[in-house]
Amino acid sequence: MTGRPSPHAVIEVIEQAAAKINLALHVTGRLADGYHELDSIVTFANLVDDLHLLPAKVDALSVSGPFAGALGTGPNLAETARDALRALAAARGCDAFPVEIRLVKNLPVASGIGGGSADAAAVLRGLARLWEAPADEADLSRIARTIGADVPMCLASRPLSARGTGEIVEPLAPFPSFDMVLVNPNVAVSTPAVFVALACRDNPPTEPPAAWGTARQAVIHLSRLRNDLESPARSIAPVIGTVLREIAATGALLTRMSGSGATCFGIYDGAEAAERAAAAIADRHPEWYARACRTRYGITGRSP
Ligand code: C5P
Repeated sequence: MTGRPSPHAVIEVIEQAAAKINLALHVTGRLADGYHELDSIVTFANLVDDLHLLPAKVDALSVSGPFAGALGTGPNLAETARDALRALAAARGCDAFPVEIRLVKNLPVASGIGGGSADAAAVLRGLARLWEAPADEADLSRIARTIGADVPMCLASRPLSARGTGEIVEPLAPFPSFDMVLVNPNVAVSTPAVFVALACRDNPPTEPPAAWGTARQAVIHLSRLRNDLESPARSIAPVIGTVLREIAATGALLTRMSGSGATCFGIYDGAEAAERAAAAIADRHPEWYARACRTRYGITGRSP
């Protein structure tokens, strides 16, 4: 690409790629193409990768941050997202000029919290702004699907229900905010391998309540739901069982794995309890990733 920034383009666009948390994840079927039908309750944490998008002479991606070294050498989903949006923007006559993507990788990779998908979604949102691309939400969502099953939900990045293979996204509002701890034992788990190890692919759906209510009421509803990938993920990475036990031992109201693992979460009665739990787990397992956080865009009020 040899284009240049439009005179109206902003100098730098900053986007946050928030950690995705599957509060519940039911596998309800399998499609002819091998993908699985899911029914998931999803929220997003205030733990993020940061993306800086700038006009440049040639396309470039630089990665920094604590988990930069954990990324593979193949194409990054952020670049896949850039190329996919450029194709659409260029087809519509937009000057999708070269960009530098600076990714600050704060979130553990291959860990069930959708970091790569969130990065891709943040690039779609950010480049749509930087390029002033003639692409609406439906266009971005269509592109998102082609990049990965979790990218459409990460585009929304707020409490939602996800069905189909993950692409049917419906916002949940009102939905409470939770004080949480995310714990990852720094063991990467392959999502396809977890789906292969799944024993039952025909589980009942989540049947969410008519109203989620307060955080405490929502925890009661959520405790009746499951993550169907937890058992196959534990068979591949038994340390997940230890992570869940450690979180439960800190007095979490609910403990569960997110996505295909290995990240697990605990929900706590307030921010202080979450901070204390994260500190206790980090103390016992300094090699693990253990962070207190709060989920985004939920209703606040007494927590939980
Ligand atoms: O779409 P994405 O690349 O994130 O999916 C990674 C892998 O997870 C797929 O290759 C597939 O094996 C599995 N998967 C699935 N059903 C889904 C989502 C993912 O089987 N709904």
